[in-house]
Amino acid sequence: MTSKHKSISPLERLKSLHLRGSVDLQCGQKIDEITRSLVVCDETLRRMMASLEAAFNKGLATETASSASVRMLPSYVRSVPNGTEEGDFLALDLGGTNFRVLLIQIHNREAKMTSKIFRVPDHVMKGSGEALFDHIASCMAQFMEEHGLKNTKCLPLGFTFSFPCKQEGLTKARLINWTKGFNASGVENEDVVDLLRRACHRRGDIDIDVVAVLNDTTGTLMACAFKENSCQVGVIVGTGTNACYMEKLTRCGKLETELDPTDGLPDEMCINTEWGAFGDHGEMESLRTEFDVEVDQASINPGRQLFEKMISGMYLGEIVRVVLARLAREGLLFGGDTDAISKKGGFPTKYVSEIESELLEDEERTFSKTFQILEDLGIEGVSQLDCIHVATVCTLVSTRAAHLTAAGIAAILNRMQKPYVTVGVDGSVYRFHPTFPRLLDEKIDQLIDGNLEYQLMLSEDGSGRGAALVAAVATRMKNERSQLAK
Ligand code: GLC
Repeated sequence: MTSKHKSISPLERLKSLHLRGSVDLQCGQKIDEITRSLVVCDETLRRMMASLEAAFNKGLATETASSASVRMLPSYVRSVPNGTEEGDFLALDLGGTNFRVLLIQIHNREAKMTSKIFRVPDHVMKGSGEALFDHIASCMAQFMEEHGLKNTKCLPLGFTFSFPCKQEGLTKARLINWTKGFNASGVENEDVVDLLRRACHRRGDIDIDVVAVLNDTTGTLMACAFKENSCQVGVIVGTGTNACYMEKLTRCGKLETELDPTDGLPDEMCINTEWGAFGDHGEMESLRTEFDVEVDQASINPGRQLFEKMISGMYLGEIVRVVLARLAREGLLFGGDTDAISKKGGFPTKYVSEIESELLEDEERTFSKTFQILEDLGIEGVSQLDCIHVATVCTLVSTRAAHLTAAGIAAILNRMQKPYVTVGVDGSVYRFHPTFPRLLDEKIDQLIDGNLEYQLMLSEDGSGRGAALVAAVATRMKNERSQLAK
């Protein structure tokens, strides 16, 4: 992008603070040594980009696709919105701890939305697939009841299902494997649209017509493209991380036998990269630290989603916690008290954002919020120096996440070679972490080819709005084709 200013990074500022305020320089040096592996230089990022590019190619080629770590999943979305889409749509959004039902009314380039959030309790995330889809159908029925839609026949619905799926068209998506802490039985290898329809039939009181199933990255791209036609990439940095982009069909070897080049549709398709799994075939080994290994080993899917586990909201806080526990064990933090920091999952990612926000805003350096967080965790006798060190670790971990994401986006932009591309971004880390967007932007700028330009754009509620838009585009294109046929 255009912003080239070189501001002093939070990390540099912390270091200077540290040197001025610290009574124990040796302790600071030891912390530096232990955490050094979390700093990734541009050269390493460039090497990672080359390896990611190779993984993209592998995922798209017929011979290698089935064994690729980055799956490059076709979305069957061939065209971004052109602004002429109209209608009322229902949308479902499942992909994190919350599930949402939305009613979206698209009229005159405006999308009016009403939505309701439902929690997906842990036992439902990890119970039976049937119970999960019954829960979804029951939330939907409740929403339709509340909005007087219960008697509407065949309400068109877009379903954002944010897990890796093998799509066999716009309305058929087989779950390949669960990610992000979900583990409901009997869903892998099944068509999730079919599971949804069956759950609705079991209830018998709602009538929906699923016209599109999509990933949240696709939704993000579409929602952003509705406003900004140059949007060709969608990125999520939330509970999980992933990206999609418009790829030339000539580069999708694995689709060759399936598509008809004379179908009159644009010569591109939105490809859901599922880049979260990059590294699962050893591609990230030189970058992964002992902390990443520990977080992965303790997760419910060890060895999988390794790139995601270094970046996304489900794991950032946990990486910080593991680093802090190591420092405490070495006697460098909390007076050597390791008890409180040793509890898995005890340091949610929102703490990382809160601690770093305080660092930016608290001129007086009282660290009152950080003190409070650490005390709430049960750590006794927290010192100001502890707060400085905790903030340093948070900054290191989130900066690395932003830089890895930047390398991923730059690899996509360099691959596309389109002169100007808008990248739609969404997700809790991008939205709520105070410096993530700026760090991301600055690093992409350094990593992309000199002839390319881009902008990042916050995609307002991509997964909900996007589902309705995919449904709307599908409806528009169907209408256009039937007009042509007449
Ligand atoms: C996980 C899912 C992916 C999704 C991403 C962001 O990586 O596998 O499908 O897009 O999280 O929600």
